[in-house]
Amino acid sequence: MAEIGNDIKKAKQILDNGGLVAIPTETVYGLAGNAFDEEAVSKIFAAKNRPSFDPLIVHTDSLDKIETFTTEVPERAKQLAKRFWPGPLTLLLQKADAVPDLTTSGLSSVACRVPSHTLTLELLSQLDYPLAAPSANPFGYVSPTTAQHVDQQLGAQVDYILDGGSARVGIESTIVSFLENKPKVLRLGGLSVEDIEDEIGQVDVATHSSSQPAAPGMLKSHYAPQKTIVLLNDINLHDITDYSEFGAIVFQDKLSNIPAENQMVLSERGDVNEAAKHLFKYLRLLDERPDIHTIVTNYVPNVGLGRAINDRIKRATSKG
Ligand code: TXA
Ligand code: MG
Repeated sequence: MAEIGNDIKKAKQILDNGGLVAIPTETVYGLAGNAFDEEAVSKIFAAKNRPSFDPLIVHTDSLDKIETFTTEVPERAKQLAKRFWPGPLTLLLQKADAVPDLTTSGLSSVACRVPSHTLTLELLSQLDYPLAAPSANPFGYVSPTTAQHVDQQLGAQVDYILDGGSARVGIESTIVSFLENKPKVLRLGGLSVEDIEDEIGQVDVATHSSSQPAAPGMLKSHYAPQKTIVLLNDINLHDITDYSEFGAIVFQDKLSNIPAENQMVLSERGDVNEAAKHLFKYLRLLDERPDIHTIVTNYVPNVGLGRAINDRIKRATSKG
């Protein structure tokens, strides 16, 4: 168990000394350390059991500061930053020497983000360095949207958890690469493609997984709970005689076969934003239920944040 609280001074002290602090953001909680300190960064990889080839996002509180550790911010990246930061957007830019290779897994690019959360922005404004922060979950598992989620899984590895309540967006940031001429979405997330295109015009979306992903967190099987999780279309519910060990995560309406108390509705009013906020919390709730062995789920409407939800569902239900 880690200490949980909202003491920014304490968080700063730990970070200044090379320690790790879990921080709230509007998307998910991050496991943060000084991005310029290789020792702190190695602690992050170790705590998450994250392979060292999977680079970290670097967080700070302004575009001006990001300009100090990148070589160039292209015009359209600036436009997105000005409109959507602080917010659920990560920009992939060319890194400057200030960022250690360990933080970016040896890549010449760095993922940068200004998160939208008052506590974390206040903390960032007081630091002389940016924070490297992956989602505060063991590698491959569902991201945490509350301080308690972090404590359950990484409580022993983190020095302090800054409690900023339930994450408002609930799904990780959208990653847009500016490494090539045309901007490319590498991870669907909390900022919709529609909003991005409204600002800078058509972008490529290249989030398909492979064994050599552009963003290694885009591995095919990721964001997965420990239990078996299957798509509704991939099982024949009529063949099953005992539904009591089944759970379900559904968009608006419960399924008829599975006990109602085993089912979580993402958004009764059919709102994809509300569904995004609930997705990881509900996956955890069902994963923790000892009486449930299989979780059934289904895609949501593929618009707005629905695309990011469907991406996570696809990865969570993928076998390998
Ligand atoms: O919402 C978020 O982005 C959260 C909060 C804490 O900010 N962070 C987060 O970090 O989701 P993480 O580490 O779980 O996911 C970061 C993703 C990974 O898929 C990683 O491979 C990719 O970003 N990434 C980071 N730096 C990269 C780089 N230089 N090139 C390509 N992909 C990169
Ligand atoms: Mg993650």
